[in-house]
Amino acid sequence: PPLGNVLNLYDFERLASRILSNQAWAYYSSGADDEITYRENHNAYHRIFFKPHILVDVAEVDLHTSMLGKPADVPFYVSATALCKLGNPEGGEMDIARGCGATAHSVPQMISTLASCSLDEVAQAKVDDKQQQWFQLYVNSDRKVTRDLIRHAEELGLSALFVTVDAPSLGNREKDQKIKFSTKSDDGAQVMQKGAAASGRQSDGASKALSKFIDPSLTWDDIAYLKKFTDLPIVIKGVQRAEDAVRAAQMGCAGVVLSNHGGRQLDFSRAPIEVLAETMPVLRHHGLDKDFDVFVDGGIRRGTDILKALCLGASGVGLGRPFLYANSCYGKEGVAHAIDIITKELEMSMRLLGVSKIEDLNPGFLDLTSLHAR
Ligand code: FNR
Repeated sequence: PPLGNVLNLYDFERLASRILSNQAWAYYSSGADDEITYRENHNAYHRIFFKPHILVDVAEVDLHTSMLGKPADVPFYVSATALCKLGNPEGGEMDIARGCGATAHSVPQMISTLASCSLDEVAQAKVDDKQQQWFQLYVNSDRKVTRDLIRHAEELGLSALFVTVDAPSLGNREKDQKIKFSTKSDDGAQVMQKGAAASGRQSDGASKALSKFIDPSLTWDDIAYLKKFTDLPIVIKGVQRAEDAVRAAQMGCAGVVLSNHGGRQLDFSRAPIEVLAETMPVLRHHGLDKDFDVFVDGGIRRGTDILKALCLGASGVGLGRPFLYANSCYGKEGVAHAIDIITKELEMSMRLLGVSKIEDLNPGFLDLTSLHAR
């Protein structure tokens, strides 16, 4: 269908389920085990309701904010997803970069260690200089590989390092496993191999190979080491409880992403929006909520989802699958259209909530009575 017929992010998902190869659909859509967390990530948003203010001047709604100390046009970003070429063999992660720079609002792109395009290609695909790109790091057991990757990301002008800590081993994604990856002539296997090569090791072509080099012995000491090694702001991606956010802040990290990897790792992890409601008061209690960015990702599909996270104190939110699907169905135009859709939804729901600026959002706009009633 023409792109104009795509009204919301679910439309991209439905379309992707029809047009993607079985392999790409299985890899992109799957969650771990029984996919309880995968569904809960989104369902938790259904348990939060709004308490709008009336008769507020909302003629102009301003979505500008800042993330990691830099001005941001909108309070969301494209989260890192491996292997974008599985769904968009030509454009891959480059088309995401192009789409992110193609709208009136420039949107930051987090680039995966397991990208199927080289970091240079994705950096060169930027539309303009003010467009932010961040590097998502899986720490390699071979620290030299990791040091080289970080230096390279710095040279290319990437402006933050998101260290993913929720994948000491790959989650049990059975949909994905049912589709056997052939190691020979198969397109998917080639993309896999490129992704694994980019991250510093040869792949044997199996999907599991992607995770082989991720160091399962990673600890807080390694975060301290990375902090000394680079001047880039460091954000810990995959935090699931308040005290770990406190620890990251105390160590001088720039922020955390409350995330369970889109429900692809530990099943029965809580929804990030619930973890956010727990975490912000604890950070505030320790006086650590200033100059420290708390992001959330997982299950965000509507402007109202973003608005709820912002009310609870998030500095911004990440979306993973919706952009993968948009990129797979329509390439860079799809990515740009997805950005427009979610931006318009957010703007409209802010107006209806009776708020014209992001800084005016607070938990008082939410009825959280049912949030914990799972
Ligand atoms: C991911 N995610 C991810 N995260 C990361 O740090 N490095 C990675 O390489 C990947 N790869 C990846 C592949 C695919 C196919 C998916 C769906 C997800 C997790 C991602 O950054 C983000 O946390 C989730 O996607 C957010 O959930 P939603 O928006 O997909 O529901």
